[in-house]
Amino acid sequence: MHDIIEQLEKKRAAARLGGGQKRIDSQHAKGKLTARERIELLLDEGTFEEWDMFVEHRCTEFGMAGKTIPGDGVVTGYGMINGRLVFVFSQDFTVFGGALSEAHAEKICKIMDQAMKVGAPVIGLNDSGGARIQEGVASLGGYAEVFQRNVMASGVVPQISLIMGPCAGGAVYSPAMTDFIFMVKDSSYMFVTGPDVVKTVTHEEVTAEELGGAITHTTKSGVADLAFDNDVEAILMLRRFFNYIPLNNRERAPVRPSGDPAERIDESLDTLVPDNPNKPYDMKELITKVVDDREFFEIQPDNAKNIVVGFGRMNGEAVGIVANNPMVLAGCLDIKSSIKAARFVRFCDAFNIPVVTFVDVPGFMPGTSQEYGGIIKHGAKLLYAYAECTVPKITVITRKAYGGAYDVMSSKHLRGDVNFAWPNAEIAVMGAKGAVEIIFREDKADPAKLAAREAEYKARFANPFVAGARGYIDDVIQPHETRKRICRSLAMLKDKKLENPWRKHGNIPL
Ligand code: COA
Repeated sequence: MHDIIEQLEKKRAAARLGGGQKRIDSQHAKGKLTARERIELLLDEGTFEEWDMFVEHRCTEFGMAGKTIPGDGVVTGYGMINGRLVFVFSQDFTVFGGALSEAHAEKICKIMDQAMKVGAPVIGLNDSGGARIQEGVASLGGYAEVFQRNVMASGVVPQISLIMGPCAGGAVYSPAMTDFIFMVKDSSYMFVTGPDVVKTVTHEEVTAEELGGAITHTTKSGVADLAFDNDVEAILMLRRFFNYIPLNNRERAPVRPSGDPAERIDESLDTLVPDNPNKPYDMKELITKVVDDREFFEIQPDNAKNIVVGFGRMNGEAVGIVANNPMVLAGCLDIKSSIKAARFVRFCDAFNIPVVTFVDVPGFMPGTSQEYGGIIKHGAKLLYAYAECTVPKITVITRKAYGGAYDVMSSKHLRGDVNFAWPNAEIAVMGAKGAVEIIFREDKADPAKLAAREAEYKARFANPFVAGARGYIDDVIQPHETRKRICRSLAMLKDKKLENPWRKHGNIPL
């Protein structure tokens, strides 16, 4: 017995040491934490239950026989974040570069399967050189097993990836199928093929950071949602983020009571929108002024800035917020913003998080680059997402709601539950100037006449009352009472039930 216990402790110590002190030091020298340190920081103190500490690879090729390290390059198990259950895997770069072997993949699959059975999120901390080269196809098979589980878990339990080191080749496709990707600046990267292959094939010279670093993916590609300065910041923000999401698709996000009164009014909102309809204003000011305690957790703040998405709370309840941003491209919808918002709305819908939409949209972005890029198909994604969404939907039109974009942005016609407009809202097919230039083309040579027509069109349509007369909006509200009206609507919608017809799956335009 004594021997066995000694052996156990020896194995545990070996597993804890991973690839050895030298490699741990080298990990620290790169400004990175080790796999275990990351888990310690992520989970509530003392809650981590580790599984499969003794798993070893079975490879005997290319000098791997006898070269085993207990745990095989990934630490897995479960624990708590702010008292709520979560499964986690953390790849250990000190062990064979965190490369994924068949056994390593089996460990990840085991916790994913268990997370699905009990209905808890999965967080992956990625730091890996990719497929374990010595294992060949066994490693590729391991990846595919993980991918399949990513897809099965999608929309059932939240999946979050934190990229904290290399993530290249096929390895990128597991995070890519998770709900959110966070990255660490300067120490993480994601790409399908690295700089050397890029140079050979396309003759482009690019660094790993430029090709797939955190800044690239949060500003250019939209692959990642947030970029953080270091491991500690990324993990602490992930803990905060975790509070906004439910454990699974049958639960609601946790309610956090707040001292901020639900009926609080904010007079400053009455002057937020400038008199000149072409002048921008800060939509984020509106968002922070209506949510509890001014706390807004923005997602993808540096990608497609013409739309703002993120999480906040209203009277303690987590909500997803989508808002056109008049400060960028006048708030027009384009390809990137449509994709960004569509994915966000679908996450909220899958996980029972009500969606609050603030609308100030002059339409879809015109131009060849948009049309050639497929704005029709990509814009349709947002339309589709809102239309299939069955969670409570509250919409506030703060200024413009023009054309097809009016329809898209959580309109009444797409089963918006409560649709408000501010008094200065303009709900119309298009702006007055553009409208008269088309329908009164014959007056083109007469600016005075055209101006009179424009004023007439404006007086008739540039208001919320035409839509109001048809019940397309439920009420015209004073800006200062926006929070109060949203909170009341959310309370009314608390037990909303709406189901879409049975089908294998819809066919969202991809
Ligand atoms: N399979 C097996 N071992 C791997 C590996 C992989 N995919 N990736 C890294 N390793 C090992 C290295 O051989 C090295 O082992 P050693 O310390 O015993 O010599 C250790 O992990 C650390 O790797 P190293 O290359 O020294 O680290 P680095 O920080 O300089 O570079 C990478 C990191 C990821 C850029 C580099 O290791 C790499 O290019 N790996 C291969 C990536 C790849 O092509 N993967 C397969 C396709 S998905």
